[in-house]
Amino acid sequence: MALLDVKNLTLEIDTGGEFVKALDKVSLMVEAGEIKALVGESGSGKSLIVRAIIGAIPDHWIIKADRLTWKGQNLLAMSNEQRRVIMRREIAVVFQDPTSSLDPSATLRAQLEESIPEELLDKGMFWKRNKQRREIAIGLMHKVGIKNQESFMQRYPHEIPADIAQKFMIAMALVSEPELLIADDPTRSMESTTKNQILRLLSGLNETKNLAILFVSHDLLAISSMAHTMTVLYCGQTVESGRVKHLHRRPLHPYTKALLDSAPSFQINLPPKSHLVALEGTIPTLQHLPIGCRLGPRCPNARRECVKVPEQRSIHHHSYSCHFPLHLLVEEKMENKE
Ligand SMILES: Nc1ncnc2c1ncn2[C@@H]1O[C@H](COP(=O)(O)OP(=O)(O)OP(=O)(O)O)[C@@H](O)[C@H]1O
Ligand code: SF4
Ligand SMILES: [Mg+2]
Repeated sequence: MALLDVKNLTLEIDTGGEFVKALDKVSLMVEAGEIKALVGESGSGKSLIVRAIIGAIPDHWIIKADRLTWKGQNLLAMSNEQRRVIMRREIAVVFQDPTSSLDPSATLRAQLEESIPEELLDKGMFWKRNKQRREIAIGLMHKVGIKNQESFMQRYPHEIPADIAQKFMIAMALVSEPELLIADDPTRSMESTTKNQILRLLSGLNETKNLAILFVSHDLLAISSMAHTMTVLYCGQTVESGRVKHLHRRPLHPYTKALLDSAPSFQINLPPKSHLVALEGTIPTLQHLPIGCRLGPRCPNARRECVKVPEQRSIHHHSYSCHFPLHLLVEEKMENKE
């Protein structure tokens, strides 16, 4: 059974009085111990997916899904308290903007020590437990590669550089020894040495602790170096999913192909907020969403049928949502030649 299983997730959000389907039939699965990349242009809905999974959406937004399960349990049917327990112990999140997720009025020490669940501490006198908290906190800072731990522990979030804040957020996320870490663009705007440290840290945790990771990123090079599988998102619709090397070798969806063509050999790091440039046009706004397959107006292969949302289909663990996937078009061309 998958750890996280999202099938046909639709999220209607309020954009100033008008409700729009920001996510439309999104499907995504994370298996135990795997690193899954979620990739898509800026504004394609990656962070909304994260928020829908963890339940951090306003009450009046409309969320529907055929499945939204954590280890087989329906997240949408849970009470807030049940969901909080899972979020406290089993799923951890590193948010896109690390400093705004930290409490500005508390030192790093206070925030990290307070987040250590009681269950992880030995029973005993409070001073022994405080000592243990301190040791666990220092150990976590060390694990994520923060040097001078004691000095940083005494500082407030606004007193630390962005890369330390990001590493600290990862330390906070690891405190409860989660089974799944959701990291929303954790290497955004980082220079390459720090970025590589974070990527090595995440890969190491995956290998040594069997930590599953949902790695949300624009960074195709990072994805190719560490992710096992990837799901590609376009304008709130998932378009293709499968092993990274399979998608790289043989993309079946026109958008994935365009994405890979714009990044030959995955050798570029797409800057945040950039558009993936291999297709004419730009990602539509939420107020002007095309009907059916949202790639339609930009797709070189679009036909009349594309005004219907394509169902997800699979070939050998490789799934795609397209009425005219590339392998069928190749076969069609060959038949026409004969
Ligand atoms: N609270 C909100 N109210 C209205 N619209 C929102 C809200 N949050 C997100 N959106 C819109 O939903 C769409 C998806 O946003 P989201 O933040 O999920 O994109 P993203 O893929 O994470 O982009 P980026 O790579 O820049 O982080 C965008 O058009 C965004 O403007
Ligand atoms: S469904 Fe149609 S418009 Fe969408 S990607 Fe496939 S061919 Fe292009
Ligand atoms: Mg985002």
